[in-house]
Amino acid sequence: MSTDQPAEQPADQPAEQATAAASGAAATERFRTHAKQNSGTTDTDTRRVDTLVSELLAATHAVIRRHQVTYAEYDALKAWLIQVGQDGEWPLFLDVWIEHVVEEVAGESREGSKGTIEGPYYVPDAPRLPADATLPMRDDEEGTPLLFQGQVTSVDGTALAGATVEMWHADNDGYYAQFAPGLPEWNLRGTVIADDQGNFRIHTIEPAPYRIPTDGSCGRLIAAAGWHAWRPAHLHLKVSAPGHQRVTTQLYFKGGSHVQDDIASAVKPELILDPAPAADGNGRDVTYDFVLDKA
Ligand code: DHB
Ligand code: FE
Repeated sequence: MSTDQPAEQPADQPAEQATAAASGAAATERFRTHAKQNSGTTDTDTRRVDTLVSELLAATHAVIRRHQVTYAEYDALKAWLIQVGQDGEWPLFLDVWIEHVVEEVAGESREGSKGTIEGPYYVPDAPRLPADATLPMRDDEEGTPLLFQGQVTSVDGTALAGATVEMWHADNDGYYAQFAPGLPEWNLRGTVIADDQGNFRIHTIEPAPYRIPTDGSCGRLIAAAGWHAWRPAHLHLKVSAPGHQRVTTQLYFKGGSHVQDDIASAVKPELILDPAPAADGNGRDVTYDFVLDKA
């Protein structure tokens, strides 16, 4: 993560900024519902809690001693932590600064396609679409048309017929449906069912770089530390098939801004797309295949 860049104000920055409070509250609510279906409420063994929390505290104590942290700084931290909760920004904070290492550990033993962080804006049960599909979008949706196509196979090379390719991404202004005002519910979100050879063709538009909300606690931290708030433009995907491990990933665009200094540290070399001009002259095309590990 780069920590020395000034905040960036590109000319195409959206005029209407989604508020941190609104997107934070939505992300917090989404996590509460979603965590119940996943591992968010798993009981953890007492000894493991003891080990993890003791080591986390010891690391914090070491920082305080090394840097001679003052009472004023301690109180600023307390006030900030309280505010993160009030803003509903714990999902944002954790997914930007912590999740990438959890994902790295989780993915260590997998051979198939690389994953990366899920981020706070996944919504399950997006509309189901056929193997050759266009993501739901507005009639006047802005952005370069993108054809994203590929095949889903198992690590042994078998085509995975009927594999599920869930895709969600920001619009041309960097906004996610259901987390920013004024967007249709399922805009740029879909669940594509691959054909009997595991092939899919998804028509969408290229998303814009995304700036994490700057008017809440995470934004105040970024400003206080002199960091920037940008994630490179990215497509989010979850790819799954029966008997196989689901891959949660993101794909980026070669040469795009902030591919080299993602605030969320989620870019990997294997996840960078290099789309070519579209065969029909309209936008860009790219092929990316997914390989799933057995469950
Ligand atoms: C955040 C947003 C994203 O789109 C993402 O992929 C990761 C994190 C965030 O605002 O925290
Ligand atoms: Fe994202």
